[in-house]
Amino acid sequence: MRRNMTGPMSANEPRPEAVDIAPEWSPASWRQRVALQQPSYPDAGRLEAVRAELSRLPPLVTSWEILALKRQLAEAQEGRRFLLQGGDCAESFDDCESGLISNRLKVLLQMSLVLVHGLRMPVVRVGRFAGQYAKPRSADTETRDGVSLPSYRGDLINAAAFTAEARTPDPRRMIEGHARSAMTMNFVRALIDGGFADLHHPEYWDLAWVRHSPLAQEYQRLVDAIGDAVRFMETLAGEAIHNLNRVEFYTSHEALLLHYEECLTRQVPRQWGWFNLSTHFPWIGMRTADADGAHVEYLRGVRNPVAVKIGPSVTPDQLLRLIDVLNPADEPGRLTLIHRMGREKIGTALPRLLEAVRREGRRVLWVADPMHGNTESTGSGYKTRRFENIRGELEDAFDIHAAAGTRLGGVHLELTGEDVTECLGGARELTEADLGRAYRSSVDPRLNYEQSMELAMLIVRKRMGSGSPLRSAPSAGSADP
Ligand code: PEP
Ligand code: CO
Repeated sequence: MRRNMTGPMSANEPRPEAVDIAPEWSPASWRQRVALQQPSYPDAGRLEAVRAELSRLPPLVTSWEILALKRQLAEAQEGRRFLLQGGDCAESFDDCESGLISNRLKVLLQMSLVLVHGLRMPVVRVGRFAGQYAKPRSADTETRDGVSLPSYRGDLINAAAFTAEARTPDPRRMIEGHARSAMTMNFVRALIDGGFADLHHPEYWDLAWVRHSPLAQEYQRLVDAIGDAVRFMETLAGEAIHNLNRVEFYTSHEALLLHYEECLTRQVPRQWGWFNLSTHFPWIGMRTADADGAHVEYLRGVRNPVAVKIGPSVTPDQLLRLIDVLNPADEPGRLTLIHRMGREKIGTALPRLLEAVRREGRRVLWVADPMHGNTESTGSGYKTRRFENIRGELEDAFDIHAAAGTRLGGVHLELTGEDVTECLGGARELTEADLGRAYRSSVDPRLNYEQSMELAMLIVRKRMGSGSPLRSAPSAGSADP
């Protein structure tokens, strides 16, 4: 998603002769396996009609964007880039709204600027948006006052209200989800093409409600320093530096509802193989990551870069098997492993996995999700996460990778540009009493602006072993925001 994008012809890659790519695979071969976390649609005819319609609708991304992202992820694997992946736990159809979309983009752009400047390397920016509409649930049904109904599985499947009508899975929601994803993507592309991400105008990324935050002021100093450096470079060059207005932004979502993913899996002219054209970077969640299950079967056959969430119960053998299935030829950039252990468990669970992958010489990109292993409920019933646990898991992740001789190449976060109070702690030391004030998530608690920026600064400190990145000297070399 950028202007001056390389066209389809330049992304042509010959099919590697030597490797047998995804033998006996088809976009529908997942149906021969056990598919967890799928809704049961009451009307098979209606499902088939929707599948036919969805299969004809235009795709949301292109194969050359997907292959460009794969090359960037390969660079992250080699320590030449850092991946920032973030967004809502779940998007909702109602939240497909300009302010919410642009605020989320603003936070991600600001965080990536902190990372680029502090890490002195380009950042791969991936949003958890434009399709993050399906959620895994711990139970198939929910019971309230003796009434049991299907669990809410995300807007792509059913509605959240506790009525039989709302909770009945409706395949037409896949058409609606495709449309809302397209609208989101269209708006993000238009903003970026229109210069929203231009380094000459970082003021576009200011969020009105955080103007007085101490972190916003520190951030402003960094922006001013970068502005000075840009003007200095342009004075030296005697002209404007144009590529500062170029930025790449990619999308990702959990590939959970396999009917939806299958219908958007396409072949394209002048390319071999199949692409999931609903998103650049599909991932599968911890609950559906069985190497013999339907989700892994689906993912193994698409040419997108793919990611898998790795929880604390995964054994080294299971992980190596997963790598064999998803990336048999060790293709660079193909496979990202997102570990989400929880602060308590990361110290015991992660080292043996890193050791096994290193010992076998497998090529993966390691990314930390410090959110999903640290979810808890308060006495008053809020689902929350403590900032100190999120920070602690992330810091431990860097240390554990350093000790194992592997590299942590990115983070996966749940965050929002809204002024929410969903995670405890952070710069404003949010307490349980604050949660009631602005708790908006219908699923997992998200970092707010200050908590997100604090984490970005922490990453720089851990990676560079220095003080606050915002106090270091400006660098004119950091052209890629
Ligand atoms: C998620 O990313 O929202 C999620 C459900 O994660 P996990 O599969 O790691 O629990
Ligand atoms: Co979540």
